[in-house]
Amino acid sequence: MVQIRVEKAKINQKKTSLLVVGIFENERSFPQLNELDPFIAFTIKEIFDNKEFNGSFGSTITLYTMGKGPMKKIMLIGLGNREKFTNETARIIGGKAALNAKERASAEFSILPFSHLEDGSIEALCEGICLSLYSFTRYKTNSAEQSLNVKEVTILVNEEPTMLQPIVDKTNIIVEAVNFARDLCNLPPNECNPAHLGSAALSLANEYSMKVRIIERYEMESIGLAAIVAVGKGSNSPPKMIILEYNGASDTQKPYLLIGKAVTFDTGGISLKPGDKMDEMKFDKCGGCIVLGTLRAIASLKLPLNVVAIVPAVENMPSATSYRPGDIIRMYNGKTVEVLNTDAEGRMILADALAYGIKIYDPKLIVDLATLTGACIIALGANIAAAIGTNKHLNERLLKASEKTGEKTWELPLLDEFHDQIKSTVADIKNIGGRPAGAITAAAFLSNFTGSIPWIHLDIAGTAWTQEGTSERSYNPKGATGFGLRTLVRLLAEEENT
Ligand code: BES
Ligand code: MN
Ligand code: ZN
Repeated sequence: MVQIRVEKAKINQKKTSLLVVGIFENERSFPQLNELDPFIAFTIKEIFDNKEFNGSFGSTITLYTMGKGPMKKIMLIGLGNREKFTNETARIIGGKAALNAKERASAEFSILPFSHLEDGSIEALCEGICLSLYSFTRYKTNSAEQSLNVKEVTILVNEEPTMLQPIVDKTNIIVEAVNFARDLCNLPPNECNPAHLGSAALSLANEYSMKVRIIERYEMESIGLAAIVAVGKGSNSPPKMIILEYNGASDTQKPYLLIGKAVTFDTGGISLKPGDKMDEMKFDKCGGCIVLGTLRAIASLKLPLNVVAIVPAVENMPSATSYRPGDIIRMYNGKTVEVLNTDAEGRMILADALAYGIKIYDPKLIVDLATLTGACIIALGANIAAAIGTNKHLNERLLKASEKTGEKTWELPLLDEFHDQIKSTVADIKNIGGRPAGAITAAAFLSNFTGSIPWIHLDIAGTAWTQEGTSERSYNPKGATGFGLRTLVRLLAEEENT
């Protein structure tokens, strides 16, 4: 992965193949302009005067310095309107700059910070750079991509970098975890079945000295994780329930519980999905992969918390052994569920994982991440996740964290009346609530298994991978985005102080 360093240097001292300079719209200058060789400064002023470049958002112009400075080239990149500049702008522009450097086969470049440094813009810049340079090349036989990638980026600052380098290093850890999660998410379903996720969790635990346990199907049967067993029944790859524990605080501290849906492929089962875009259902494991990545990040950051991740992993297939519409399942917490659609499998496996997690770990709070409903995409599109929870304070904290990470999240109301839609005539509840408010009734279903523990559910169906309706963002290359990981880490890191 690309290494980012902060260095105190004047721009006319730093030897680099490419110097990237952000320019706000119509400002026609930047603070260090006159530190450049007069010849280059003159050329840049000419560019502004000729209106070849005015700093409009994302636009670039690149010039060669012809030996008149320690940088071979300078790229001006438009930051758009100064008043509209946010950390998300820094993230996007950081990504654009990095991709531009990659296209020009620069193994290395330097960049000036876009604005004052206190407010998280340096994190955002690093995130943009590292996230944009990710690509999934494992199955490209003769790919030059990785070897041609940018390897080193220097952020040039005026002050001693002693305060800034640790921020960059921390961001690097988080972003590496996002790219780790993306790698898992992007795996094709023939390679990545529940067992594969299990071994990925084992290696992760090994590398970061975490506890790991994988509950096999026979044990699920005997302890009553009946819904996970039922959903997994149609597949030749048996289900696994992965439990990863990070202990960064004393054993007396209640753990935070993260739960991630990992359906390694969702055909819909007997309630078979239509063929169109069914391939995208390889991404139905993203919630689980992101939760694993989150544990990697917090273990690597050594956060002083206890965190447990539970990832129910199954493949949802149609076969002679599949669970069926009409089946009634007694769930781990004793409630009965009438299955009316085998394609509403995510809530089934999450329900058992939630109830199990509460019983065994008595957590302080729970966050679950799941590509749970198509209805979420209908409601909010492909750029915003739905947040639905039972605790006002937790909802607020999560939404605040998501504002800082740029992982857009919007709250939907979990009002009592939604429970009416999932009442069953023959069992306690049924697993579908009809078309109206489908994302909310799925959450209402889950809330039957969360007891009195503060809980929030994130439906990442629209945001977990780039799909129809995804708006172009430099730092989200095609495929899995890793959406949610940075927000979870942020939420947990802030818990340190509460
Ligand atoms: N994994 C899907 C949800 C999904 C669909 C995510 C498309 C992203 C894109 C989930 O298991 C599912 O099939 N949900 C059903 C629920 C319905 C049967 C109540 C859905 O949304 O259609
Ligand atoms: Mn489904
Ligand atoms: Zn699914």
